[in-house]
Amino acid sequence: MSGGTGHLPVMLSEVLETLAPRDGAAYLDGTFGGGGYARAILEAAPRCTLFAIDCDPDAIARGAALAARFPGRLHLLQGRFGDMLSLLEGVGVAALDGVVLDLGVSSFQLDEPERGFSFRFNGPLDMRMGKVGNSAQDIVNSIPESELADLLFNLGEERHARRIARAIVAARREGPITTTEQLAGIVRAAAPRDPSGLDRATRSFQALRIAVNDELGEVERGLAAAAGLLAPGGRLVVVAFHSLEDRIVKRFMARSAGRGAGASRHDPASLARPPAAGAATAAAFRLLTPRALRPGAREADANPRSRSARLRAIERLAPQDVAA
Ligand SMILES: C[S@@+](CC[C@H](N)C(=O)[O-])C[C@H]1O[C@@H](n2cnc3c(N)ncnc32)[C@H](O)[C@@H]1O
Repeated sequence: MSGGTGHLPVMLSEVLETLAPRDGAAYLDGTFGGGGYARAILEAAPRCTLFAIDCDPDAIARGAALAARFPGRLHLLQGRFGDMLSLLEGVGVAALDGVVLDLGVSSFQLDEPERGFSFRFNGPLDMRMGKVGNSAQDIVNSIPESELADLLFNLGEERHARRIARAIVAARREGPITTTEQLAGIVRAAAPRDPSGLDRATRSFQALRIAVNDELGEVERGLAAAAGLLAPGGRLVVVAFHSLEDRIVKRFMARSAGRGAGASRHDPASLARPPAAGAATAAAFRLLTPRALRPGAREADANPRSRSARLRAIERLAPQDVAA
């Protein structure tokens, strides 16, 4: 966490070491955020080109200063990384030497009460990274109780989902729930204290944020698209912060590396789909991280947000190395 002064990039040295940027190569940072990874990549290989996507217009606006520092080398694109194929096609790019995704929200977003991501501040119940579409307020005030309970259970791994959903529905009968403080109060009153000391609102806020931004769907689309864009030797490096997204990354990478059925280098989208029973495996990628990398003790102490980070990576094999 940044204490409101910006975003501390998580596992930056591990990301750089794994991506290994080279001069003359082209990379994509699919989650530009505060530009911490972007700047480090541009500095590590002074003649590489970097395309950077963020769905948040504020992140793109902030990035203009960095783009001016690296003339002609940093190209900012506003949009969702799940749409990276069309965003890159728009600027004439069909292949890349590396893609990095640092999932979730930035400290800029978390620490801005107006964005409504955090129960630590009072603000409108928004949570939209891209500032478009349905907000958290739209969801909590409209969906049926059973759907709300499933959402809290599936996306927040909240054991008290049914109780919390019931309390939210009772509260919204009195009038719409519009602020983070209101929602956090309802959840805290409905759920028993967590033995770990975790704020009782944590899991419900996580669930709503994931739903509002379709974060799991984006990860699936982004992984499939990135895999399809990588040139031989190109690397995909992903940093995930909660078990739901990390599980998707882990399975995708294992299948891409032939450790599961159904992966096809001819159809990258197949890599994000569950394997068909008995399907043949063609390993188009090499797994660079048989086990996820975790932040070192010093980083975990200095930046609590890094503690849940897991880094996983794959590399596209050269055609002659792909097993038939
Ligand atoms: C954890 S921050 C990235 C921080 C960045 N690595 C740095 O060093 O400053 C994640 C960023 O990705 C953006 N983001 C999250 N999901 C996205 C998506 N599906 N498409 C585009 N941007 C996304 C968020 O708006 C946020 O700015």
